[in-house]
Amino acid sequence: MYSFEYRNPVKVIFGAGTISKIATEIPKTAKVLITYGGGSIMKNGVYNQVKEALKDHESYEFGGIEANPEFETLMKAAAVVKEKNIDFLLAVGGGSVLDGTKFIAAAAKYEGEDAWDILAKGASISASVPLAGVLTLPATGSEMNMGAVVSRREFKLKLAFLHPLSYPQFSVLDPNVMESLPVRQKANGVVDAFIHVMEQYLTFPNEASIQDHWSEGVLKTLSCYGERYVLEDFNYDIAANVMWAATSALNGIIGLGVPQDWATHMIGHEITALHGLDHAQTLAVVMPGMMRVMFDLKEEKIRQFARNVYSISNEEFDLELVIEKTEKFFQSLGVKTKLSDYGIEEKDIPAIIENLAKGNEIKLGEKGLVNAEKVELILKSQL
Ligand code: NZQ
Ligand code: ZN
Repeated sequence: MYSFEYRNPVKVIFGAGTISKIATEIPKTAKVLITYGGGSIMKNGVYNQVKEALKDHESYEFGGIEANPEFETLMKAAAVVKEKNIDFLLAVGGGSVLDGTKFIAAAAKYEGEDAWDILAKGASISASVPLAGVLTLPATGSEMNMGAVVSRREFKLKLAFLHPLSYPQFSVLDPNVMESLPVRQKANGVVDAFIHVMEQYLTFPNEASIQDHWSEGVLKTLSCYGERYVLEDFNYDIAANVMWAATSALNGIIGLGVPQDWATHMIGHEITALHGLDHAQTLAVVMPGMMRVMFDLKEEKIRQFARNVYSISNEEFDLELVIEKTEKFFQSLGVKTKLSDYGIEEKDIPAIIENLAKGNEIKLGEKGLVNAEKVELILKSQL
């Protein structure tokens, strides 16, 4: 196991009826900006719960943060933060609103010329507005991590930044908010969380037994509850398990002291930037190809995954069987797994690779072995 340091400062407030607790978590003297997306919170009662809880706070609102949050929109929100001297941001939404709010918080305090540099050049951040979240869509883990992904459609770019100042101060996770989720978003959440685990687990063995068992536990929970959560009527306990699985998948804990991959995500982000697929849709296409093309590197962990998650013994092991089981799981949720399902053809692959390279040599994955040639093979294997 590699050495590590771990500190996750996010206070998680989990359970039914917990949104009201924001009233006491946010300082009474704070000027709060509530950020949200396209309006789902108006229809499912979450907005009313937040407003009720903040009735004694001075609060403002900024809505319209898109799925795959757009830089231009976030800069408008950062201007509001400065103009109104906002000193607390409350993100109410899914990963896009949370990520967008992390960027707004950093951009509002950024002293350089152009806040785009935080994403494009990894420019350092020395201050950020404190923020918190009311999660409405379990998927990304953004509610308990320090990452954010921002898109700039005019440049066809989707870029990430990570900073300890971006950790939410607290996140409220009330599984009841999941009742209003459309099937597509529920399915996306399960797939995204599943792949977050795979990115930290499906690498090479590193004598990290606890992390492996945690990972397998999250994968089994998602496999066990995924279909019922997505396809059947709302059930609180199933929702609660999926919600906590999604948070656990990317709050840092399963990735401690182990090698990490993330190539599927990096390729997936380019597919979203160029073709507009949902984040999870890209992952469901790329991961099966990654398992196939990078098998030599990942063999031991793929066998362990097959054994401990799918109960496929070493004698029964067959790579294509494991890949098929994984694709079938995504498909059973309604998430397609081939590029052609989204109208992407072989001729589109070079542009994806070029966007990914951004003029540099591609060296992704746990050992930097996923190069341009491998990316091409991965995408071709999923046509
Ligand atoms: O915008 P509104 O109206 O709220 O509707 C949203 C949106 O249309 C809707 N929704 C959310 N909660 C709802 C709801 N509809 C009904 N009832 C509810 N309770 O769902 C749609 C999608 O929301 P979005 O926030 O975009 O989804 P998700 O949580 O999957 O976030 C995706 C973004 O997160 C990034 C992705 O790249 C993508 O930009 N990621 C962030 C990560 C991180 N911070 O660690 C890691 C991930 O790998 C990922 O890259
Ligand atoms: Zn993801």
